[in-house]
Amino acid sequence: MIEPIEHAADILSKAKSAVALTGAGISVESGIPPFRGKGGLWEKIDPMKVAHIDAFLDDPETVWKLLIKDMKTVLDTARPNPGHIGLVDLERLGILKTVITQNVDGLHQMAGNSDVIEFHGNFAWQSCLDCNQSIKTSQVDLTQMPPRCSCGGILRPDCVFFGEMIPHDALIRSQRVSAACDAMLVIGTSALVQPAATMPLIAKDNGAVIIEINPEPTPLTSRISDLPLLGGAGSIMPRLLKAIRRRGPST
Ligand code: APR
Repeated sequence: MIEPIEHAADILSKAKSAVALTGAGISVESGIPPFRGKGGLWEKIDPMKVAHIDAFLDDPETVWKLLIKDMKTVLDTARPNPGHIGLVDLERLGILKTVITQNVDGLHQMAGNSDVIEFHGNFAWQSCLDCNQSIKTSQVDLTQMPPRCSCGGILRPDCVFFGEMIPHDALIRSQRVSAACDAMLVIGTSALVQPAATMPLIAKDNGAVIIEINPEPTPLTSRISDLPLLGGAGSIMPRLLKAIRRRGPST
């Protein structure tokens, strides 16, 4: 009986257009808490009260204080972990083409992946609700709550709040690359939020092998994932890359 990680290495070493779908779990080992499960943010605060666009527009100060300020503190110091690095190695081996991420932490780009689709936007930039000017989050003055633009308008992060549409280009490209890939690595997502959680179904429908990396089972594990690798991304990815390198470059 072949070890699942060896089987996954067999599949990936022959893959030509693998795609990764990542969620908050891949950044847990970078010190960023997930939303659900152990230590999840939504175990402490109701997302509909702080992460819904109506809640933000109704009381931006509270959302900035309860959610965004802490996010900025954590994201300012977060760095890629071996899970992110493993995806960069897969790209450099010519195996991985695109990362579709639900995360807004920018760690895939910081690690070095060159094609990252930010399905839920990103936290690196803020926009003014009045004049729509963009300002880097690192330059936002947090001494006033909510932070304001030079025009006096309130700033909002360029992340997708609940109640908002997924950026059109991100959605269309994600569907396209998911339909075209020959393998999909689904890493660190509870697969509960749509339409991101549909990407593995599109990939599977088009013949891709689904490899899932997560310490816990998800709704995908028993029905969609061909190769569930139970464990943390930070430990599984280096082992997976080692097994792939043992197989040498594919012909
Ligand atoms: N390695 C891999 N997976 C992990 C690790 C780890 N070290 N630690 C936890 N996980 C898994 C958890 O078991 C869980 O299945 O990561 C998953 C995190 O799930 P969520 O917190 O729900 O994150 P995500 O799936 O990205 O959430 C989707 O919901 O709130 C919205 O916009 C937010 O993008 C987010 C979306």
